[in-house]
Amino acid sequence: MAPIRFLLNGEMRSEDRVSPTTTVLDYLRGTARLTGAKEGCAEGDCGACTIAIGETRNGAAHYRAVNSCLMMLPQLDGCDIVTVEGLAKEDGSLHPVQQALAEADATQCGFCTPGFAMAMFAFAQGGEAGSDENIHDALAGNLCRCTGYRPIGEACRKIAGHPDSALAEKSVPALPPCTEYKHDEQICFLPRSLDQFLQLRASHPAALIVGGGTDLGLKLSKERERFPAVILTNGVRELKTIATDGGALELGGAVTYSEALPSLDMYFPAFAALARRIGSRQIRNLGTFAGNLATASPIGDTLPCLIALGAQIALRTTTAARTMPVEDFILGYRKTALKPDEVIATIRIPFLPNSDRFAIYKLSKRFDQDISTVIAAFRVTLDHGVARDFRAVYGGMAAIPKRAATLEKALTGKTWDTQTLDGIDALLAQDFKPMSDQRGSAAYRLRAAANLVRRFQIETTDERALARVEAL
Ligand SMILES: Cc1cc2nc3c(=O)[nH]c(=O)nc-3n(C[C@H](O)[C@H](O)[C@H](O)COP(=O)(O)OP(=O)(O)OC[C@H]3O[C@@H](n4cnc5c(N)ncnc54)[C@H](O)[C@@H]3O)c2cc1C
Ligand code: FES
Ligand code: FES
Repeated sequence: MAPIRFLLNGEMRSEDRVSPTTTVLDYLRGTARLTGAKEGCAEGDCGACTIAIGETRNGAAHYRAVNSCLMMLPQLDGCDIVTVEGLAKEDGSLHPVQQALAEADATQCGFCTPGFAMAMFAFAQGGEAGSDENIHDALAGNLCRCTGYRPIGEACRKIAGHPDSALAEKSVPALPPCTEYKHDEQICFLPRSLDQFLQLRASHPAALIVGGGTDLGLKLSKERERFPAVILTNGVRELKTIATDGGALELGGAVTYSEALPSLDMYFPAFAALARRIGSRQIRNLGTFAGNLATASPIGDTLPCLIALGAQIALRTTTAARTMPVEDFILGYRKTALKPDEVIATIRIPFLPNSDRFAIYKLSKRFDQDISTVIAAFRVTLDHGVARDFRAVYGGMAAIPKRAATLEKALTGKTWDTQTLDGIDALLAQDFKPMSDQRGSAAYRLRAAANLVRRFQIETTDERALARVEAL
């Protein structure tokens, strides 16, 4: 059995005496005695535990911010990790990010500051422009309860693309990757190919598959569960591929939201805009499409989009392969068609024909880092002002993400105008009996679901009318 090896602030670490379900945050604070990263919420919301994970691309190191509270230690194998302790230079002088935070008076009690520093470090390294939008996006996964965000934002603007933000170049030595990590009665498999992954799935059907761990990580950080056997997908190269052919975009199951964004921007801009509202950068740098599908949450954000787009999911075992529409994959509340020996291999999203209009609307209490109260994905095929085909898929309205069958039937073949939408509230009430909870009442959900169709109709037909509506 090989140990887990990784660079931690430039020093090689080799670990074989730690439980594989130890969170990275516990490891840092406990075993490594690096207490800069803090535990604020232990559920991916506050960003106090943010660290940066690096990889080398085209000879240069690229870092992404992640929540260490949700990650399992073996997810670090072969990585280059930087914590806040690794920012300052060897002579003790501050990193430009730390300097900027100090100069902007961007800290009071300091609890959140290491997390902000690491989010800002990843931002500065990425070379993005210091626009309000970019800064907002880069810091949306970090909360501060005393300073206020203006000085923190100012500090972030100052270090955007800072020429001295790079750290001294250190790369992970080319050592054989760990493929199996055992500790006491626990085992963690790290397959590197789809074949290895399928073999492991067949021989260990009870093992838990972990993608980014942003859903499962809560079981470790909050409930302190110790999974006996785990299979990590983040090293499976076939599951990390993003490809296009003449007809579709195909995403490997272990592709993260951040990795998919450039392709989504190119082929499905509405989907890209939604993906940018899934969690925070820290979450999007870890969370995968397969994870969102397998969790099958009624408010899993990608599901209504994938159903509206007619996406197909490819499932594999060692001996069989099958594909099915995403719609058929979701069987019930958090229940899917995945068999015990199957894995999600790819998701194929067909390109939209020119005649189709597509939009996604996410309603949540907070714009950033919040789960949906209602999410709607609409698609209409327009032919001389007539809706030849209409799809309306909602999350947050039922136990599963679901098409509004009565509404779809009533609108298909009709003139695509505002009069046609008279009476859609009653149709939606036939399709859904939503629940009331702290996010919204049943009446709110139904009203919102109908009004979003109206918004979609306006947006797809009359831009001047939309401008008037938005001005209200
Ligand atoms: C703070 C926070 C904010 C969030 N915000 C949002 C949000 O706005 N919208 C939203 O939709 N979700 C949100 N989530 C939920 C989560 O980030 C997503 O569902 C994410 O896509 C899960 O992917 P993962 O790879 O991290 O899943 P994991 O936690 O690794 O796994 C989830 C499930 O998928 C299974 N699985 C993973 N890969 C495979 C595979 N290849 N084959 C078969 N099964 C597999 C696992 O066994 C597990 O059952 C949020 C989570 C957190 C912690
Ligand atoms: S401790 Fe709050 S995000 Fe990790
Ligand atoms: S400075 Fe106290 S929480 Fe941010």
